[in-house]
Amino acid sequence: MNTRLLFLIAAFIYAAGSHAQEPLLQHIYGRKNLSLDGRWNYIIDPYEMGYYDYRHEPHDQSATGSGGFYDDRKQKDKGELIEYNFDLSPTLKVPGDWNSQSEKLQFYEGSIWLRQKFNADPQAGKRYFLYFGAVNYEAHVYLNGKKLGMHKGGFTPFQFDVTGKLVKGENFVVVKADNTRKQDEIPTVNTDWWNYGGITRDVLLTEVPDSYIADYKVQLAKNNPNKIEGFVQMAGTALSQTVTIFIPEAGITQTVTTDNNGRAAISFPVKKISYWSPENPRLYNVEISTAKDKLTDQIGFRTIETKGQEILLNGKPVFLRGISLHDENPLIPGRLRGQGDMRMMLQWAKEMNCNYVRLAHYPHSEEMIRLADEMGLMVWGEVPVYWTISWLNPDTYNNAEKQLSDLIVRDKNRSSVIVWSIGNETPLSEPRHTFMGKLAAKARSLDDTRLVAAALEVHREGHDVIVNDPLGEKLDLVSFNEYAGWYWSNSTDMLNYKFKIGFNKPVVITEFGADALGGFHADEETRWSEEYQELLYVNQIKMLTAIPALRGMTPWILTDFRSPRRQHPYYQDFWNRKGLISETGKKKKAFFVLKAFYDEMQKKYKSEGK
Ligand code: GCU
Repeated sequence: MNTRLLFLIAAFIYAAGSHAQEPLLQHIYGRKNLSLDGRWNYIIDPYEMGYYDYRHEPHDQSATGSGGFYDDRKQKDKGELIEYNFDLSPTLKVPGDWNSQSEKLQFYEGSIWLRQKFNADPQAGKRYFLYFGAVNYEAHVYLNGKKLGMHKGGFTPFQFDVTGKLVKGENFVVVKADNTRKQDEIPTVNTDWWNYGGITRDVLLTEVPDSYIADYKVQLAKNNPNKIEGFVQMAGTALSQTVTIFIPEAGITQTVTTDNNGRAAISFPVKKISYWSPENPRLYNVEISTAKDKLTDQIGFRTIETKGQEILLNGKPVFLRGISLHDENPLIPGRLRGQGDMRMMLQWAKEMNCNYVRLAHYPHSEEMIRLADEMGLMVWGEVPVYWTISWLNPDTYNNAEKQLSDLIVRDKNRSSVIVWSIGNETPLSEPRHTFMGKLAAKARSLDDTRLVAAALEVHREGHDVIVNDPLGEKLDLVSFNEYAGWYWSNSTDMLNYKFKIGFNKPVVITEFGADALGGFHADEETRWSEEYQELLYVNQIKMLTAIPALRGMTPWILTDFRSPRRQHPYYQDFWNRKGLISETGKKKKAFFVLKAFYDEMQKKYKSEGK
């Protein structure tokens, strides 16, 4: 067999292995972590010099062995040629997208190498994981010059087992982050949000005992307020362990023994539980422990279900007083940089008297969901299966399913999450229906305790807005986006339209809205004025409350956000202006229209003993 073929086989085996990642550690923030956040040196690499040699062979597989940027080579003598140098390169703040940190990176799409050095003191009897909260979009990760693997997906966490790969003293990690959009990816090439690239969430070096609690689910059983159900999954050595679950404020202590695969089902009755709700966001300390490992998580307990046209939270009908939002700080454009940014966004939603948020169009950070738990906001979580996806490509489907699975694995213990959304405004076709049907089934197989939904397609026939997207049959909510008065009709003629809903299920409008340049005032017929947006909201509410099964809405959108699709130099300037709050933090007139409606709905549902 010739050497080239041998080499290719070796490369294939290596590549396949290097994609393997450990199952996600549940509750990463509850473990012993060394944070690698901070300033990382970075090198912009549009031609991927750091990855390919001049014959476009990957350095780590090339015969030349010249080595890529991941080696972080230093000049041994003054004659040595090295055409990169991290130490002399500028730095980026991690977590943080690169677009908002440097003028020349605002529109950059391509690869950037980032390097961090850190000290470690690896101990025997411990396991070590290198964890990333998110890297948009494709990450190739190297530790001390050796490849750990790669990850695709810009909004879900991933990690590598680095046990035995750390040295005592100084180590270095190098990441090649590439945010290039591609048709067959998730999302695909056309989206209406800024393609923020880079290491946008935390990077942690996590230490666990050699026998450790890898994953668990501790939630109320489906539609059963009197039983907690779930599982515990051990990993590492000695998989069969005695595991104790202790919820002191609920007077619960349960012990289970994991099997030879490290797994044990949990199921036990609850007597005195204060159920989580927006009005009472009660979280319990849940302590899970074994002889060698111990985690304490903060978990709320509630049920969510639909019955006919009602949504029942803890068995009582609820109206979802919501708003959509992106993972972006409008005041200092860029991905939300930490709890301060997140708290600001959710506090604005609370000011509007929301009890619910649609975290569009991709998984937001774990910290954001934990804040929603704490602040009492129900959550619609979503994967970026958005618009014109490559429905026939099996790799595209597997990517979508992986992102959905990682979202559900990560957030399955978060009481605020009530909906898993499998996509947004995907055009009708048989391949799309098959793709989305599989995703819906996957979501239910991973978690039967939450609702499954998507923003469905709608179309108009005369003055009827028809909602009969066949995907609706497979979902729990009739959710759809409609832009009456903005993309079609106008802010007054829109009142002539009627909705024809083809399903007997709760209706939750996922988007409506209009652009308004904050501070621009004119008459109600003038586009881009706050008055146009205000009247549109008044008339949208009139139109939508005529739908008998209306049980919620998440108008588009809490704040103005950056978008490469919005080029009007005066009214937009690469901003989507549908926010109810401007990029200066100013509440537009429509903000108060929606708040007044939510105040009314809150009274209505309270007064009817609902
Ligand atoms: C679409 C889409 C949003 C987009 C919005 C708009 O419905 O779901 O992502 O930003 O409309 O056009 O403003």
